[in-house]
Amino acid sequence: MAEVRSAILGTGRAYPEGILTNADLERMVETSDEWITTRTGIKERHRASESEYTSLFAVEASRKAIERARIDPIDIGLLICATVSPDQILPSTGCLIQAELGAHKAAAFDLAAACSGFLYGLTMADKMIKTGQVRYALVIGAEVLSRYVDFTDRSTCILFGDGAGAAVMGPAEGDRGVLATRIYSDGRYAEQLYSPGGGTRIKPTSETLSQGLHYFKMKGNELFKIAVRSMADVSVEVLKEAGCRAEEVKLFIPHQANQRITDAVTSRLDVDPSIVYSNIAYHGNTSSASVPIALDECVEQGKVSEGDLVLLASFGGGVTWGGALIKW
Ligand code: ACO
Repeated sequence: MAEVRSAILGTGRAYPEGILTNADLERMVETSDEWITTRTGIKERHRASESEYTSLFAVEASRKAIERARIDPIDIGLLICATVSPDQILPSTGCLIQAELGAHKAAAFDLAAACSGFLYGLTMADKMIKTGQVRYALVIGAEVLSRYVDFTDRSTCILFGDGAGAAVMGPAEGDRGVLATRIYSDGRYAEQLYSPGGGTRIKPTSETLSQGLHYFKMKGNELFKIAVRSMADVSVEVLKEAGCRAEEVKLFIPHQANQRITDAVTSRLDVDPSIVYSNIAYHGNTSSASVPIALDECVEQGKVSEGDLVLLASFGGGVTWGGALIKW
């Protein structure tokens, strides 16, 4: 029997209305619009209010994806919420989203792979659909990273934004669908980007909170090099596995971490810069939400047509990285 491929049947995105501009940051830390723009490409990012939380955006993005996929939530067999900023520790944000959507027959859970979370989820869903374990899967990347950002640390607070993106996956028609996926991690680099406190190793106390141990700490310039190398390498790998050439790719969506990282990966891969999507100026780095938000924007803007080869690549804390090649 021929193997069933999985395809993305519908996408959606959502983010807070609140916007934090570079000018706002200039008033908070010693930085400048000029530094942020030239070093990262970011002009502004969405920021959740105190009353907004991760599943709120995840549910909104998911509803759009479900509507576009024209499926009933009850037919979703797998619901993966990729996040490193869950609503709470227990239950999973995935289960909270499931209840809101009425996807009561899904196995729902959270997946922590930082910025690579969506590609990790897409890889899992692809395999579950291919093996016939589920017919429809909902893969979400959702973050309210601003809760873990130290707004006195200029090296991190300029980077991150809040939001969610979602994709409904299901059996592909014809020769469309996910052609290849690859995911990797290397925990030896764990402390390049981490939040030391707030878990079981350093439990949350008023002291750890006042020391800011729950905030992200990052060695940005070291991660920069690993990010470029791993996103380029994994892209080459999925292209090779699918028997495709970089010149055939019609749309490349890298994780939106830094415009300079995107430019360096583009030049390493030797793809035409005009096929590379970037929305970093208006979203910043939304971690696991970055790839699905960008994908939904591309679909909405008509940047992808049936039969086009779409390449996705991501890199994040852990460190983790992944790639996927999809025939749209
Ligand atoms: N404004 C002004 N100056 C600043 C700022 C700022 N916001 N931030 C840092 N600087 C200063 C530094 O103090 C340093 O000054 P010094 O030379 O006097 O010591 C100088 O600028 C250069 O600092 P670098 O850290 O070397 O700057 P770099 O060009 O590397 O840019 C950045 C920093 C933007 C963080 C970059 O390294 C980066 O994007 N790294 C990758 C981040 C990433 O991919 N993370 C993983 C994914 S995220 C996830 O998984 C959730």
